[in-house]
Amino acid sequence: MILITGGTGYIGAHVAVELLNNGDQVLILDNLCNSSRTTLGLIASVAGRTPGFVQADVRHRRTLNSLFREYPIEAVVHCAGLKAVGESVRDPLRYYATNVGGSVTLCQAMAEAGVFRLVFSSSATVYGDCPQMPIAETCPTGQPTNPYGQSKLMAEHVMRSTAASDPRWSVGLLRYFNPIGAHRSGKLGERPSSTPNNLLPYLLQVAARERAVLKVFGNDYPTPDGTGVRDYVHVADLADGHVRALEFLRGETGVHVWNFGTGRGYSVLEVVQAFERASGVRVPLSFEARREGDIARCWADPAKAARQIGWKARHGLEQMLEDAWRWQCCSRERGEPLALATLPATGR
Ligand code: NAD
Ligand code: UD1
Repeated sequence: MILITGGTGYIGAHVAVELLNNGDQVLILDNLCNSSRTTLGLIASVAGRTPGFVQADVRHRRTLNSLFREYPIEAVVHCAGLKAVGESVRDPLRYYATNVGGSVTLCQAMAEAGVFRLVFSSSATVYGDCPQMPIAETCPTGQPTNPYGQSKLMAEHVMRSTAASDPRWSVGLLRYFNPIGAHRSGKLGERPSSTPNNLLPYLLQVAARERAVLKVFGNDYPTPDGTGVRDYVHVADLADGHVRALEFLRGETGVHVWNFGTGRGYSVLEVVQAFERASGVRVPLSFEARREGDIARCWADPAKAARQIGWKARHGLEQMLEDAWRWQCCSRERGEPLALATLPATGR
């Protein structure tokens, strides 16, 4: 059985589906601070099997202890965390308490229970403003520009030191680049709890006429069209990577780091154009000043993941955007955020 912390969230839910499809038993722990119990039914309807669920905080040591006692947990995928950059600047202690404190408590409970296989949702933000592209895992970690990024880097340090202290640990640090997209069924996707900060959720709301215009933050970067370049990766590809990482770690010890990106960067304007092609919907935009803390460009060298765990992103940008738009439209059909156009669910 695999325990997924944060398993009703955007990425965790996709990982749950992938593990269930792989034949694994799945137990989810989530305090539902940024997700909903209804996701469990959606996971079950997509995967054909229901994961176990415990509503609890990952920092609650006694709950973790009893879960490890009660269930035959062999490994943990640790997705639980807070991820809003702006909020982390306003409330840094909450971010350190959850993202760092949660990781410490989880590692303690795992060690006590004799469970040493751990996969962690890290982020390319740990590289900071890396001068060379593409970014390989050998690039030194940098100075993340906000408490969220710092907390992810600190959590990595927690796991590295823990693994260094006991050779039974087998840890995978998965550095996601920019996860986007949604499950092809239109049932699982990212649901921002307030005004979205990230490009894709904001763009989707503009396309759905919930917001007037997409603000493009900066068109004077040293990039081909002046807008920021990122490596967008489909959440379904990420989910597949978690299964592969867990399998690889079964026969290994120590800490293993993998970049999860496509290896290709796209500018904001390229994303908008690809979205308009994929959806047939026009996205009004305005050019604004650069956003504080943003970097010009960031894309992965994903060769190590391909070599070691046989992982490669399979979905292209238009597919990611088509799936994201379907999710937005299906959400409206379920009485969730408003969207104007619909795409049929595919049989893929
Ligand atoms: P999400 O908010 O959708 O999912 C996180 C889940 O964790 C939520 O369901 C939330 O309720 C739960 N959670 C938060 N604090 C908790 C706590 N103290 N105890 C138990 N559950 C708690 O976010 P996501 O996009 O699915 O991200 C998952 C992980 O991936 C996070 O750790 C995030 O930092 C990391 N990550 C995300 C991105 C991204 O762009 N989405 C990029 C890089 C890394
Ligand atoms: C942001 C976070 C990063 C986090 C990642 C995934 C910052 C500085 N970084 O990365 O720590 O790991 O999200 O959650 O917030 N853009 C617009 N208009 C918008 C939104 C974004 O033009 O309304 C641009 C940005 O300037 C950037 C690109 O779109 O060039 C992608 O932005 P975003 O989706 O927020 O991701 P990152 O900035 O890469």
